Amino acid sequence: MSILEVKHLEKIYEGKVAYKALNNIHFSVEKGEFVGIMGPSGSGKTTLLNVIATIDRPTAGEIFINGKNPHTLSRKEMALFRRHELGFVFQHFNLLDTLTVEENIVLPLTLDGVSVREMKKRLEVVSEKLGIQSILKKRTYEISGGQQQRTAIARAIIHKPSLILADEPTGNLDSKSSKDVMELMTKINEQDGATCLMVTHDAVAASYCHRVIFIKDGQLYNEIYRGDNRQTFFQKIIDMLSLLGGDSRELSTVRL
Ligand SMILES: Nc1ncnc2c1ncn2[C@@H]1O[C@H](COP(=O)(O)OP(=O)(O)OP(=O)(O)O)[C@@H](O)[C@H]1O
Ligand SMILES: [Mg+2]
Repeated sequence: MSILEVKHLEKIYEGKVAYKALNNIHFSVEKGEFVGIMGPSGSGKTTLLNVIATIDRPTAGEIFINGKNPHTLSRKEMALFRRHELGFVFQHFNLLDTLTVEENIVLPLTLDGVSVREMKKRLEVVSEKLGIQSILKKRTYEISGGQQQRTAIARAIIHKPSLILADEPTGNLDSKSSKDVMELMTKINEQDGATCLMVTHDAVAASYCHRVIFIKDGQLYNEIYRGDNRQTFFQKIIDMLSLLGGDSRELSTVRL
């Protein structure tokens, strides 16, 4: 079953000079799949994620999440849809620094009026899964970058979304914290059957995915599947990135 279907998607940014950021993007993501999106800077990755996230509207084409096209909903319905069906993880964590770790994590449930008992139960499950039980009472400026990202992941999964969308989740982390975050994402994917779509520049992070889709100039360029060897997959990703051209920083900063 497809959780996400992207059909002939096109996005034109109107402006003084109109710019076609996405051109006929067509793919689907199956339930339980972990898919990476890679491509040079400016190739349209964030645009694609934003359109799927209903943060931005497509110019043409359609998106189905769990069989429903969120772009046909009213604004109010769309906000609800986003809150129920989607989980977000960003490069800059996007936590509220006036709240504690625990308050940040349960925020999506608070907005939905879930009972305190149910909230506590779910908080316990996700904080254990992410190894952040000891920092629940801290504020977000009192914890490390890796801990902040784990908090953000806990918040993204606490309402059991159909689809987790991540834009450069390891972009601000050192290699050790990146590895921790990718191992946790993998665990959530495997144990909870969560479906993930992740944009990344980092070939190491991408090597944790089942499949990586490459885009260039707003168009699908290629896709490759992992198979059972992450090391070989990593090498294939590096090769594909050098074929793609664009910026070379993903080649200069590789660490396994
Ligand atoms: N709001 C906007 N208005 C006009 N053009 C935009 C807008 N947002 C993005 N673009 C353009 O669309 C193209 C795709 O941008 P996008 O942010 O999706 O790239 P990206 O692949 O995420 O790049 P990066 O790897 O640098 O994050 C770029 O050429 C960008 O300049
Ligand atoms: Mg981007």
